Amino acid sequence: MSKLTDLPAWKALQSHFFEMKDLHMRDMFDQDAARFDKFSTRMDDILLDFSKNRMTDETFKLLCELARESDVEGWRDQMFAGLEINISEYRPVLHTALRNRGNKPVFVDGEDVMPKVNKVLQQMRYFSERVRGGHWRGYSGHLIKDIINIGIGGSDLGPHVVCDAMKPFAQRGMNVHFVSNIDPTHLTEILKFVQPESTLFIVSSKSFSTQETMMNAHSARDWFVHTTGSEKAVAKHFVAVTSNLNAANEFGVLPENIFEFWDWVGGRYSLWSAIGLPIVLYLGMDHFEELLDGAYAMDEHFTNTPIEKNIPIILALLGVWYNNFFDAQSHGVMAYNQYLRRLPAHLQQLDMESNGKTITRQGERVDYLTGPIIWGETGSNCQHAFFQLLHQGTKPVPADFLVPAKSKDPLGSQHSILLANFLAQTRALMMGKTEAEARKELEESGMAEDKISEVLPHKIFEGNKPTNSIMFEKLDPRTMGSLLAMYEHKVFVQGVIWNINSFDQWGVELGKQLADEISEVLSSREPSEDYDVSTNGLLDYCVSLKFSD
Ligand code: F6P
Repeated sequence: MSKLTDLPAWKALQSHFFEMKDLHMRDMFDQDAARFDKFSTRMDDILLDFSKNRMTDETFKLLCELARESDVEGWRDQMFAGLEINISEYRPVLHTALRNRGNKPVFVDGEDVMPKVNKVLQQMRYFSERVRGGHWRGYSGHLIKDIINIGIGGSDLGPHVVCDAMKPFAQRGMNVHFVSNIDPTHLTEILKFVQPESTLFIVSSKSFSTQETMMNAHSARDWFVHTTGSEKAVAKHFVAVTSNLNAANEFGVLPENIFEFWDWVGGRYSLWSAIGLPIVLYLGMDHFEELLDGAYAMDEHFTNTPIEKNIPIILALLGVWYNNFFDAQSHGVMAYNQYLRRLPAHLQQLDMESNGKTITRQGERVDYLTGPIIWGETGSNCQHAFFQLLHQGTKPVPADFLVPAKSKDPLGSQHSILLANFLAQTRALMMGKTEAEARKELEESGMAEDKISEVLPHKIFEGNKPTNSIMFEKLDPRTMGSLLAMYEHKVFVQGVIWNINSFDQWGVELGKQLADEISEVLSSREPSEDYDVSTNGLLDYCVSLKFSD
């Protein structure tokens, strides 16, 4: 494959950038009444308006050519077909098989994986219906009313964002909690408010060896045995989700209570697998299947829609445009929906663990920028926190705005005011305010001329700040599934264009290795001479204060 920066479309975009960089979106809208029709697309009720971007017909054409020259469609087909595209871990990438609702065979090493995917889905249905229906009870006959998921990274963030977002669909009286942090406070604070006899722990870990998860799982088990006085009762209160069946068994989980998934499911793509068990227990299997249906609908859209109308590909191309040509270092995610408050955290792992890479698939260092920093906050909170920098700061921050047309919780006119805020912000970011407009406003307010000339520069907004508006009718499990799959495919397309492997995460390993080594040095409680002076100094400080275990 030719190098990204040698592709004709890349070179054309480079020269096109110089034509584009001083153009203002205000003028583009003035000159083209069809801009919204041209630069918007739909899938089911999801509407992507990407017209408020710094692009012309020519930009869009070149970006679509870039996708073709990078063979995005070919890579997409390889992923869905189960080819080994995770080249540094020698694995296929098949989270799409987990939501393959058409049930077409998907082969890994000559074996159709669909029967085992469906078998685990059945196991999840059976188990969740027993728990939710009160047939599976705690060791002393109590109904289960608190689910505690113990996991980290992909074994936490995906199910967590879905459970939070889908709260209105939860079973009354059922609570779900997520423990991820090795900081003992996380588990302690949750255990304070639950009773062992009505609590079910899910130990969620693909590897079943992640330090944080295993330590939290053992602490939870100790608490459980200590408070109930019964080792035997553990079997009724601990289940596991993992691809390491032996380790889960050794932990003490009965084989029938282990929910399997496979090494071709990456951690950050695993919420569709048995890692979704907390979602199923909280919302019910029917809702989980609606989530899968929504993701499948987005998979079908991604697979069958031409590039020019393909939502994930368009989002990816625009991200590349700003990342690589405008040098934007970050990408904002503003969900104007309180239920989506954990979305940025999930997308941070999804995007940054996938595309935070410097080495190409051929093992060479890239000479262009790869994955952006993902960050965000719910609207309208974001407006009163950091939007000042978006409007008048020096850094370009392209951003997605996600907004449902209808609220789950209508309250007076609050939702329409929320919508007005979203519309106002995206328009203000695009239009800005010219000197003449700012001056007119000040004059109309009756301000004296000498004051006007002092204040005027502060009242001007450059505008020309790009946003994508992603609207949908309402947030339900199906739409949630579609939105999450949309972002997965966006990240995939960008990884293809940047010619990196989006599916490994070796960068996380270095810190893990060193933490194991340093924890041994710490436990000796002796001053250290083993490391750099900074690390030694910090270790000595912990020792001098007799740190707690
Ligand atoms: O943080 C690295 C990572 O490997 C993630 O990719 C993964 O989601 C997380 O750790 C948890 O891993 P596991 O599910 O094996 O405990």
